[in-house]
Amino acid sequence: MVGRESNNGQTEGTNGINFSAVEFEELAAIVAERAGVFLSAHKQREIESRLYCRFPYIESLDGRALIQMVKKSDSALQNLINSLTIGESYFFRNRPHFAVLKEHILPDLIRENQRHRTLRIWCAGCATGEEPYSIAMLIEEHFSELHSWDLSIIATDVNTSFLEHAKRALYGPWSFRGVGQAVLDEYFTAKGEKQYQLRDDIVEAVEFRPYNLADMPYGDEFLQARFDILLCRNVLIYFSFDLANEISAALADRVNPGGYMLVGHADSFPALGQLQAIYQGGTYYFRKPVRSDPAPRNRRPSRLEIIPGIGVDPTGRHLAELADHALAGAKKRMPSRLPRFGFDEIPPVDSGGDRVSELLDQARDSADQGDLETATELLEELAQGGGRVDHRVYFLKAIVAEQRGQIPSTVASLKQAIFLKRDFVIAHYYMGVICEREGHKKDAMRYFRNTNRLLREHQGDWAMDEAEGLSAEKLAEIVENRLKELQLDLEVEQR
Ligand SMILES: C[S@@+](CC[C@H](N)C(=O)[O-])C[C@H]1O[C@@H](n2cnc3c(N)ncnc32)[C@H](O)[C@@H]1O
Repeated sequence: MVGRESNNGQTEGTNGINFSAVEFEELAAIVAERAGVFLSAHKQREIESRLYCRFPYIESLDGRALIQMVKKSDSALQNLINSLTIGESYFFRNRPHFAVLKEHILPDLIRENQRHRTLRIWCAGCATGEEPYSIAMLIEEHFSELHSWDLSIIATDVNTSFLEHAKRALYGPWSFRGVGQAVLDEYFTAKGEKQYQLRDDIVEAVEFRPYNLADMPYGDEFLQARFDILLCRNVLIYFSFDLANEISAALADRVNPGGYMLVGHADSFPALGQLQAIYQGGTYYFRKPVRSDPAPRNRRPSRLEIIPGIGVDPTGRHLAELADHALAGAKKRMPSRLPRFGFDEIPPVDSGGDRVSELLDQARDSADQGDLETATELLEELAQGGGRVDHRVYFLKAIVAEQRGQIPSTVASLKQAIFLKRDFVIAHYYMGVICEREGHKKDAMRYFRNTNRLLREHQGDWAMDEAEGLSAEKLAEIVENRLKELQLDLEVEQR
């Protein structure tokens, strides 16, 4: 407990700067506007104490004083943003991404860009630099031919203290979790107690710049270039759904045709539907189609894409398309691409089943077409229609609610779907994703473990997943990767 004198002259026992609910809302609005970052009201106490540490010079404990200060002074505003952005990162984070960079993405781009010999890479939201430096090390290790190319690795972040740290390139042991000793020996020199200095040539290979992704949808000053590889991983989870989706679209625009984009597992937003999603080596990544690519089949973006890791096959085609094709003879009606998990095995509802299926299809179609209001109305009607409402209604409600940025309602609907069908594996997985996005890592792990358990239990006869083209094996692989990464994150938090 820290004691400081408050503005009314009394010493208060507190461990934070105090905001009233209204002041906290105002603070959240400033941070959302200036950095895009969404401050959740339930984190108010944690944020108050974080700010207390970052603004030690502030005289009073009054949140109003801090708001005035950040309104007046750019450096106070930057300090506020620096205090509220989360910079957790480590070298070679999400190994499967580095494996696909090595095995597929870089070899492909080296082939494709041979004529002009340029390669542009952008790490957006690079935190303290581990991510872009990992790419520089990967290139150094396996693609030395790129030394004679016009190669640039640009790394940006809104947090200027992270960028300073990145430029110093001095790291503690937690930046190396998941990295073998060989990398340490080859690229780092021990310095002081458990600190490691990165080799100069790798440091020089990366250019760091401050850049606020929240500015993207409104046009920006310096990033006029297009990139061959764009990484924006574990960044957009901190933004509101709408802004994250807008930024995803703006980022996807910045990818050269034939170029690639890698996002964090929980950062996959529907706007990325304009890119080809590729599944390889237990992970997903995106490629911007080129004109000479075979014409895509006439496909509307699907709400299904909101759930990362679902709905794409290794050739980049949407699995629902394949399923449409494969099931064309088997099913009379396949009007929409929204999920139909377990479609065949559950009688729709106790009464009026056909009417329910019809309404559900209409709701899917409305959602597919972006008419979320109609979709919501139809789903409400279904949910209140009496009889036993089936899990698909709640699953679709969850997807639509997430599209509308209504996270509590997404969670409530998913819980209801799981309540109605305990082994609804995709709903468990989806809950894991939402929990991860919302920063509830332990809950995310619980749902991912449930997903794995269900997949194991149903091994071999998971017909409903086959029907959508998503194999249990693939989902298990994705979930395993998530669990490994979340475990690493939790270990750091528990330090
Ligand atoms: C959890 S770190 C991710 C670091 C790295 N990409 C990785 O996956 O290891 C999230 C980063 O996003 C940055 N960030 C948050 N809001 C941002 C914004 N509006 N513009 C740019 N970067 C932002 C934070 O400062 C932080 O460094």
